Amino acid sequence: MTRFEIDSDIRKASTLPAEFYLRPEWYERTLEAVFARSWQFVCRENEIDNLFPHTLCEGSLDEPVLAVRDSDSVSCVSNVCTHRGMLLVEEPCRGDLIRCRYHGRRFSLDGRLLSMPEFEEAEDFPSEADDLPEIPTDSWNGFVFAGLDPQAPLEDHLEPLAAAADGFDFENLRLAGTRDYEVEAHWALYCENYLEGFHIPYVHPELNRIVEYSTYTTELFGRSSLQTARGARGPNGRPPFEDGVEGLYYFIFPNTMFNLYPWGVSVNIVLPKGSSRTQVRYLTYVCDESRVGSGAGGDLDTVELQDQAVVEAVQKGIHSRFYQKGRYSPSKETGTHHFHRLIASALGEFE
Ligand code: FES
Ligand SMILES: [Fe+2]
Repeated sequence: MTRFEIDSDIRKASTLPAEFYLRPEWYERTLEAVFARSWQFVCRENEIDNLFPHTLCEGSLDEPVLAVRDSDSVSCVSNVCTHRGMLLVEEPCRGDLIRCRYHGRRFSLDGRLLSMPEFEEAEDFPSEADDLPEIPTDSWNGFVFAGLDPQAPLEDHLEPLAAAADGFDFENLRLAGTRDYEVEAHWALYCENYLEGFHIPYVHPELNRIVEYSTYTTELFGRSSLQTARGARGPNGRPPFEDGVEGLYYFIFPNTMFNLYPWGVSVNIVLPKGSSRTQVRYLTYVCDESRVGSGAGGDLDTVELQDQAVVEAVQKGIHSRFYQKGRYSPSKETGTHHFHRLIASALGEFE
């Protein structure tokens, strides 16, 4: 298969070619090279009572994991019984051990096999292979992430946000709602649209009246980026929303968006469901009810539908035999360029 090279100099670079989005083998390969090696958001710590089942990369890798909370930490183990593959915990619940409802195998909360009926005569049993594999897990400001084979510590992905969001009220966030959007397009087309504010004046007329387009900035980090939108309304509350900041749009490669507004955080997870189907899950965490509905984070539904319409039209456009790839605006598409380079390098390393 061809390797994708994206020039590090954005002034010379061309985008990922259409075949990346169109050929099913690239889709499959990206799931392993990018998604299986990334951190994925699970939930907030305070949503886990004790046992919390979760599917990593629902709709693509579909890996069942079980988040377990003890007094002060959260860890994850595989949620698949090591006997014949039964799902262990199907609903959030409480328990001081994990018991399989198929044939009664029992595990401790850290995944060690405790007992199994009718196995007295089995040889070399139990062995380590009968324990539940541990899944790398980490938390940041109460947000729990897990990954199958993450390539760098979670801290590396989120440290830049800690600096930019200094003073943000992470402590009091509570889940106010979840919404799912279905998009008929490749997941990367959705992400790369998110990663530039270039289209705001053309696609989002209402948002463009709130955001001062000329002051919109994008900062790039190792596996993340931060876009900052400022408006003309003046201070929007406590830090980091003084000085007219309307929204901080933080992207964690490959598919997690942390959008910080004066009212709270919209965590948007982009879930691939096929090479031209994507589900976008909006998790709304509120810390200041009085500010809900105002500013750049006020009418997210309108902005989302406007974005989806262009992304779906691009999905149709890249099928054209006349379109192979394009060029970047060196001043406005640094986030998209950075994202394409991370994909190209992940696929290159995976070969
Ligand atoms: S599959 Fe779990 S005990 Fe048999
Ligand atoms: Fe947009």
